[in-house]
Amino acid sequence: MTESSPPRRIVVTGVSRGLGRAMLAGFAARGHTVCGCARSTTAIDELRRQYGPPHMLDTVDVGSDEEVRAWAGRVLGAGPVPDLLINNAALINPNAPLWKVPAEEFMEVLRVNVAGVANVIRHFLPAMIERGRSVIVNFSSYWGRSVAAEVAAYCATKWAIEGLTQALAEELPKGMAAVSVNPGVINTDMLQSCFGPKAASYLAPEAWAREAVPFLLGLGPEHSGEQLTVPGQ
Ligand SMILES: NC(=O)c1ccc[n+]([C@@H]2O[C@H](COP(=O)([O-])OP(=O)(O)OC[C@H]3O[C@@H](n4cnc5c(N)ncnc54)[C@H](OP(=O)(O)O)[C@@H]3O)[C@@H](O)[C@H]2O)c1
Repeated sequence: MTESSPPRRIVVTGVSRGLGRAMLAGFAARGHTVCGCARSTTAIDELRRQYGPPHMLDTVDVGSDEEVRAWAGRVLGAGPVPDLLINNAALINPNAPLWKVPAEEFMEVLRVNVAGVANVIRHFLPAMIERGRSVIVNFSSYWGRSVAAEVAAYCATKWAIEGLTQALAEELPKGMAAVSVNPGVINTDMLQSCFGPKAASYLAPEAWAREAVPFLLGLGPEHSGEQLTVPGQ
């Protein structure tokens, strides 16, 4: 750990796979504590064996306000108020033109990608505001700032995240920050779903995290309201 990076307590949603899992590994390797969640019990059990206390790993569906409330209570009751909150968990539905996306599928993408972010903010932010200095990062996408055919539901949620984050930045007291971060294009399950075999030609999450982790640790109040992209992406 460098002098400029004191140990932080970092909340990350969606740590079971992909970018979340790579961030968990990257933050932990630098001596930071991660409080992470995902839905998969198997993955969380395995991660708990790898990342013991003070890390905290929980099975949570971020789309459930009740589950997030209970999770935030456990995290806030067990240690210091988090310095950094990363809303990373998200879903993409199978590629299809908007009019062919079943109603339940559309609602599930909204529930997790938008309401899930609001749930996490609702239950963690009051303690962070009381503390007076913390950073909230909401993961967006190139598809939060541009569009493509067959991913309209996902685009709608990531454009929503950009608006939600900028409005939140207006509401926060001085000393705090809310930013949207486009991670870039990385070879994860999500990319394989929407890009198919082409996904294999993109960076692996572990390689992405080498740039992304120090970048995320460097965010502060001066960035609040900004629409950022992970360097190199
Ligand atoms: N990969 C890319 O190229 C790319 C590009 C632009 C933006 N992004 C954004 O980056 C973030 C991470 O994407 P990724 O590529 O790493 O996706 P991924 O490989 O599909 O992983 C998604 C993670 O979110 C978790 N998750 C999904 N639904 C959840 C829920 N309801 N509650 C809690 N956790 C949930 C998943 O775990 P469980 O299934 O165990 O719950 C998993 O750990 C997302 O916000 C995505 O939109 C990715």
